[in-house]
Amino acid sequence: MENQAHPFVEEGQKSLTSDPCILVIFGATGDLTARKLFPAIYNLKREGQLPTHFATVGFARREKSHEQFRDEMKEAISNHSRVKPLDEGVWSSFQENIFYHQSSFDEKEGYIALKTFLEQLDTKFGTKGNRVFYLSTQPSYFPKIIEQLHVNDLLYNCHEVKDKWSRVIIEKPFGRDLNSAIELQENLTKNISEEQLYRIDHYLGKETVQNILTFRFANSIFESLWNNRYIDHVQITAAENIGIGTRGKFYEEEGLVRDFIQNHLMQLVSLVAMEPPHSMNASAVRDEKVKVLECIEPFNESTFETNAVRGQYGKGFIGGEEAKGYREEENVDPNSPIETYAALKLYINNWRWDGVPFYVRGAKRLPKRATEIAITFKPPPGKLFSKGGKHSEADVLALRIQPDEGISVKMNCKVPGPSSPIQPVKMDFRYGSFFGLAPPEAYERLICDCMHGDNTLFAREDEVFNSWRILTPLLEYWGSKAPENFPNYEAGSWGPKEADEMIGKDQRKWRLI
Ligand code: BG6
Repeated sequence: MENQAHPFVEEGQKSLTSDPCILVIFGATGDLTARKLFPAIYNLKREGQLPTHFATVGFARREKSHEQFRDEMKEAISNHSRVKPLDEGVWSSFQENIFYHQSSFDEKEGYIALKTFLEQLDTKFGTKGNRVFYLSTQPSYFPKIIEQLHVNDLLYNCHEVKDKWSRVIIEKPFGRDLNSAIELQENLTKNISEEQLYRIDHYLGKETVQNILTFRFANSIFESLWNNRYIDHVQITAAENIGIGTRGKFYEEEGLVRDFIQNHLMQLVSLVAMEPPHSMNASAVRDEKVKVLECIEPFNESTFETNAVRGQYGKGFIGGEEAKGYREEENVDPNSPIETYAALKLYINNWRWDGVPFYVRGAKRLPKRATEIAITFKPPPGKLFSKGGKHSEADVLALRIQPDEGISVKMNCKVPGPSSPIQPVKMDFRYGSFFGLAPPEAYERLICDCMHGDNTLFAREDEVFNSWRILTPLLEYWGSKAPENFPNYEAGSWGPKEADEMIGKDQRKWRLI
């Protein structure tokens, strides 16, 4: 299984070498650039996956020289690269292609100077006018930057210009509700066409997330059971032990549902629930994902209270260390109503999933970091192995997205010996030990795909809109009704008791992870 093909694209596509290009990162002095983007580009360089003719330019407001920027990025890579220590040989050739451009995001002169600078780099590095613009800024800057890129001829009309290309990667969140997402889309597409827009959801770049489709559709044993005849319910959990750190301002505006349920976890829902696409090309896969979201009813008056729970962490202990409550974090209102925990119950109203609840929960400051999808099967019919009217434990198939990436099946087994007690046992597949390598970081995959012009692993506009369509009424309801019980879970606990009650009413429990 070495050299596994990209599960979402047709054979051969991955081996294409990307065209020469320049990658320009807006918001180059931000956290994401240091923690994720530069380590990803460095690792692409290390593995020979960058085009031979390549340069990268950091664009940000602060004054600094190319050398200062290079030094900062060197430190960032040393601290955050998945492969350590930094390889000085790779770095010394990589750093020659790194530059910095100082400007504010709305200053026309800054873009005019950028254009001239990029043309000089084209001459020096042979990058042929091709551009990836990565918008890693506050979302409120997205329309402004794209407009400036357009009016200053940095974006080419992809229907008319054929000898070079320009693409824009845009970070999440895309809007803050359905209307603002539609408005943002209308705004952006005045200056750029949809084909050039790459809405990043880094979960889609994770190997284990990509493997969901391979696992489902390359194995007939699972797919034939994948429906409401055999599946009792699905649990999707994204637990984090970290708090909001220095992101108080962002969290106070967005909250957890906008931060990672609307995008990352809804993507997992669609991948687990979608029908097999007719091919693995971008539109076929995305069409099927959208159909899943279209079958989910938006939250409404009859489900606001019964199918959704929000929470906020108070102070507590994690791994033996004291952790502050959310309201004590930097840049957070001491009476903040913002959620750092959410648990939702969703139904996908189609033939395959009718009646199967999908319980989705995500949170900050739980006891550990773990993201998994657990498929719980129905008990076997009859009473052969039931005791006192109770069935043996349900079979569970767990797809561990991270950490300890892998897949396990929990099933019942006879304990050896003359009596026949039953005991659940586990079959476990671990990526790390089987393949013997750490999977690449999601950002490596996604930056590389954008340079190849492959948008399969990026969110399409209708996916984003549909996800907002489901969640916007709930967010509005929460926004109109201040929570009375916040903080309602201790840092280091598994969340508010109301979430246990929600699933408990269905005679089910959250899985112990
Ligand atoms: C980001 C969210 O998109 O995803 C963060 O903004 C979250 O709040 C992060 O911590 C989780 O990503 P990962 O790859 O660490 O699971």
